[in-house]
Amino acid sequence: MSGFAVAIAHPNIALSKYWGKRAGAGNVPAVPSLSVTLAGLATTTSVTFDPRLTADALEINGVEVSGEPLRRAIGLVDRVRDAAGTRTFARIVSRNDFPTASGLASSASGFAALALATVRAAGLDWPADRVADLARRSSASAARSVFGGFVELEGEAARAVAPKTALDLRVLVCVTTEEEKKVSSTDGMGVTSRESPYYAAWLEEAPRIHHALREALLAGDFERVGALAEKSALAMHASAMAAGIVYVTGATLAALAEVRAMRDAGISAWATIDAGPHLKCLVRASEAAAAKARLSGVPGVLRIIEAAPGDGARVIEGEGRA
Ligand code: DP6
Repeated sequence: MSGFAVAIAHPNIALSKYWGKRAGAGNVPAVPSLSVTLAGLATTTSVTFDPRLTADALEINGVEVSGEPLRRAIGLVDRVRDAAGTRTFARIVSRNDFPTASGLASSASGFAALALATVRAAGLDWPADRVADLARRSSASAARSVFGGFVELEGEAARAVAPKTALDLRVLVCVTTEEEKKVSSTDGMGVTSRESPYYAAWLEEAPRIHHALREALLAGDFERVGALAEKSALAMHASAMAAGIVYVTGATLAALAEVRAMRDAGISAWATIDAGPHLKCLVRASEAAAAKARLSGVPGVLRIIEAAPGDGARVIEGEGRA
């Protein structure tokens, strides 16, 4: 078999967080999550099935990659090979137009783009939910980047819940370090589930926050979405911290204090934090410039990336041939 396709996908930020996995195989989240896919930042990935290759190969941002990242990519390609009934090896070339240490999960856009490009290069015409299922097995948050706008991941299934226009939202990513995080989200949630005295409380609370946030989103209630997103992030980090997993730094907390000071000053700004030290501020488009100016004055905030809600993953080139 030979085949070639290029797909593009964007990172996403969870408003209600996924943290923890169900027991058993398949990488199924223990709690539902709801994210917004971001415009303006992208991973572009090409996949070429070539009978002349003697092994799979992966290049990320111009560098040939081996070890764990290659192993994870091969895991995804193997599932597609099984479905397509082929053993042909693939060459994968992937590029992010945002820095990997930017606090934006490159695994989400990376596996979403890889899933779509691999499926199409193999000549399969899968619907988005099946592509999302494939992406989820490699990195659960990647399932959400298959769809645009506001996206829910509940159990094994990801689905779009509201278009990108549903909320007049801007995300300000406050970059606080250029270093990559030391504890991956997979490892961090593993330790939390095994060792946190508050993990059971998180499992009870997260679905409640998620469902309330989903309702607020569908009602277009910006304030309530923001308040619930901040609550979700803090509950997630509280459960992780109780197991010794600390992602926040002084700069994260200084930015959080500034977000709260903005609220006192009448700006509807809310905070969310993922498995790293970069705070993401949720703000209305009309107040984004004011919020950005205030956050750039926070000690430890190196730079700010502004993003709006965006589209899902799509094929931009190529057709697979069986
Ligand atoms: C804090 O999707 O990176 O960003 O499924 O193990 O690859 P794996 O984890 P990953 O976890 C994301 C955690 C989070 C919250 C979220 O995006 O919902």
